[in-house]
This record gives sequence, C-alpha cells and structure tokens, in this order.
Amino acid sequence: MTHKQARLRADRLFQSLERLSLPADLDDGGENTESLVSIKGQAVERVTDSSRLPRMKKFRFQLLHRWLTQNFEPCQAADIGGGKGLLSYLLINCGWAMTVIDPVTQALPDKYKDLETGTRVKIDPQRTVPHLQAEFEAKQVTHYDLLIGLHAHGCNARIIDAAATYGCGFVIFPCCVIDEPFYPPLGVHWLESLADYAIRQGHSIRPFRLNFKGQNIGLYSMGKCKVRKDAAAI
Ligand SMILES: C[S@@+](CC[C@H](N)C(=O)[O-])C[C@H]1O[C@@H](n2cnc3c(N)ncnc32)[C@H](O)[C@@H]1O
Repeated sequence: MTHKQARLRADRLFQSLERLSLPADLDDGGENTESLVSIKGQAVERVTDSSRLPRMKKFRFQLLHRWLTQNFEPCQAADIGGGKGLLSYLLINCGWAMTVIDPVTQALPDKYKDLETGTRVKIDPQRTVPHLQAEFEAKQVTHYDLLIGLHAHGCNARIIDAAATYGCGFVIFPCCVIDEPFYPPLGVHWLESLADYAIRQGHSIRPFRLNFKGQNIGLYSMGKCKVRKDAAAI
C-alpha cells in the first residue's frame, strides 16, 4: 500500500469512528465537521485532526502526555501495558497519580525529548514509577479515574469492560487484535469493532488522532474524569 492509500484508509476509518461515536440525533451522515457535541452532559469541542502535520515518529508518549494534560484535570490513572513507563513518568511530573500495570518490568529510558523546548532531558537513573507487575485485571483498578492503554497488547476490551464497571474514563490506542477476547466481523476494522463494543457497554466515546507514526487513532471516554476548563482539543 502506498503512503497516500494508507492515509486515505486511515482518514476513512477516522470518519467512520466519528460517525459511530455521534449520538444518533447528531449524526448528520458525515457532513458535521466542527460542531459542539456532548459527552455525559459536558459540552465538548470535536477533536482537532492533527494527522496532516509532519509525523513525529517516536514521540507518542510526549504527544499523549500533552493531549492528556491539556484536556483532563490531573487524576489517578493506570498506564496499562505501559512498557518502560515514560508516559507515567511525564504525567507524574504534572501532578498525576500513575501506576504502570504490565507483567514485564522495564527501566525508564535514560532520556527523552521535551517537545516544548526541543531539548533532550535526562532521567535520573534512580527514578522509578509505581509499577504493578501483573497482567491487567479489572479488580486492580476499582479506585482509578482513568485507564490508559497505549498499544496495550490484548487489553483493550478488558479496559473498556473495567471502565464500564467502575465508571472510569479510558483512553486507548488499540493496535493488534491478538489476545483480545473477540475479533471484528469480516469487513469491520478492529477499531470500529471496539468502538461499537464500548458504546454497547454504555460508554460515550470519541475518536481522536495524535501526530505520531503508527496506529495513531485513539478512542476515549471521559467517565468520571473532569475535563480541564481550558481544554484545548476535546
Ligand atoms: C506494544 S507494547 C506497548 C508498550 C507501551 N505502551 C508503548 O506504547 O511503547 C505492549 C505492552 O503490553 C504489555 N502487556 C502484554 N500483555 C499484557 C497484559 N495482559 N496486561 C498488561 N500488559 C500487558 C507488554 O509487556 C508490553 O509492555
């Protein structure tokens, strides 16, 4: 597939997710672009699509950190399948209470690029982030406000279930379907299938895109999380 075909396919998928997530009375058949919609009674602006900007290859943690801190009040969140924990590290530095839930323990990277200043920032080798070394299970997150799954292997449907059970918000960037409890029907994209599943579990969901290479379409539900008063993108 050429780059252009891949982009068109991603655009079509994103539009399909936008339509899926609109309340029935706001679904205009695809013509609605920048109107106000409501999630659980909160007026929120539709998401800005940044996918046409040059891709910032490997900065998904920084981009998701920026999106979260611009749009959500700091809260208690689980970074499910969080890998090295850079997203949690960045959010903890902004006053969030974070726990990585991942069966594999990995050290934080030794440095990262600060996108605001363009500088490389060293991480103290003694620094760690709270880590639950386990496969993700709903009972681990009874008191959490937000469940985050950035390419969280095999955890997406379970994140949606746990968020429905405990009223948490969630933010997921699903990648592959492997190890998930169900597969999409033929002709349905995995993200559409997950979006439909989340709606059927009672979530009000919205899609959004970040500007990194790879699977960069996310789905979110606010749950009990608070939107920042000056929220930039939701
Ligand atoms: C593709 S990596 C993504 C890591 C990180 N979020 C990132 O974006 O680089 C998938 C992560 O999911 C973790 N994982 C696999 N199965 C899991 C499970 N059942 N519960 C929680 N994490 C799991 C892996 O150990 C790995 O760190």
